[in-house]
Amino acid sequence: MAAPTSEAAVTVSAHIKKVAVVGGGTMGNGIAQVFATGGFDVHIVESRQEFLERAVSTIGKSLERVAKKLNWAPERSSEILKHVQGGLSLDAARTADLVVEAVTEDFATKKLIFEQLDAAAPAGAILASNTSSISITEIAACTKRADRVIGMHFMNPVPVMQLVEVIRGLATSDGTTARVLDLSKAIGKTPVEVRDYPGFVANRVLMPMINEAIYCLMEGVGSADAIDTVMKLGMNHPMGPLALADLIGLDTCLAILEVMHDGLGDPKYRPCPLLRTYVAAGWLGRKSKRGFYAY
Ligand code: CAA
Repeated sequence: MAAPTSEAAVTVSAHIKKVAVVGGGTMGNGIAQVFATGGFDVHIVESRQEFLERAVSTIGKSLERVAKKLNWAPERSSEILKHVQGGLSLDAARTADLVVEAVTEDFATKKLIFEQLDAAAPAGAILASNTSSISITEIAACTKRADRVIGMHFMNPVPVMQLVEVIRGLATSDGTTARVLDLSKAIGKTPVEVRDYPGFVANRVLMPMINEAIYCLMEGVGSADAIDTVMKLGMNHPMGPLALADLIGLDTCLAILEVMHDGLGDPKYRPCPLLRTYVAAGWLGRKSKRGFYAY
């Protein structure tokens, strides 16, 4: 967990002070936390008050873990939490220099949000999406500022994971890309720039492995525990692919595989039928307390 780099923070803070995060779920609250920790004022937009309260409470608990790990002064977590506000309206974007959208992995939902954000946000504001696979070019085309639309793909758990995959859409400008690369460093992350292609790099490589692990389970090659243990002890992965799928959310895994299957047209990305069945049953992983494991 690297500390934000102050040199980068100074450069970026000249342009970006207020950040709105749309969606306070697993990814959204983590993103809000890392921006607040980096000294930015953050406003979380949620659809319901209870979701907003849950997001802020999750950030509070996560900050306590970080405080313990990094030996922070007792008041540091509450100081950071003061930078986090929330509301139920996209009007928060009116004063934002950067908006990061982190809602469900569904193009129609994102389209609606980007149209509204484009109308609300100041002309110079950057609109970023935390999408894990949907085309940034297509999202940008829903706005009149395609040059200021970009992908900022954070990894779960956001406070812990070092990477931000930065995705340039076809029309994303050099200036927007440079600012987002700087900004990612300012919040202590390591950005990697990639092209806009279905699944980008992270999920293009990760999801086939997870999908194959689900096929192994469906075909009875091994139990969930056996498959995960092989990958943990044999490949030194911090967690097995099925446990990781439960962490990411099985609905999200399915949505990403669908985007790659449709977008690349190659049968090797065909989502495993067992994954579809689990999603249909509402077994979505940790968030529904049941996935490949029970929680
Ligand atoms: N907030 C703050 N700190 C947290 C945290 C959180 N939400 N979650 C974990 N931590 C900290 C813990 O406090 C702990 O710190 P210490 O080392 O000081 O004890 C450390 O992280 C490790 O956590 P745990 O001891 O609880 O558990 P662990 O050692 O098993 O690690 C893990 C958990 C970090 C999740 C690790 O298993 C891991 O790295 N797994 C792989 C995660 C991964 O691959 N993520 C990417 C998913 S793909 C994605 O997100 C993109 C997509 O589009 C799908």
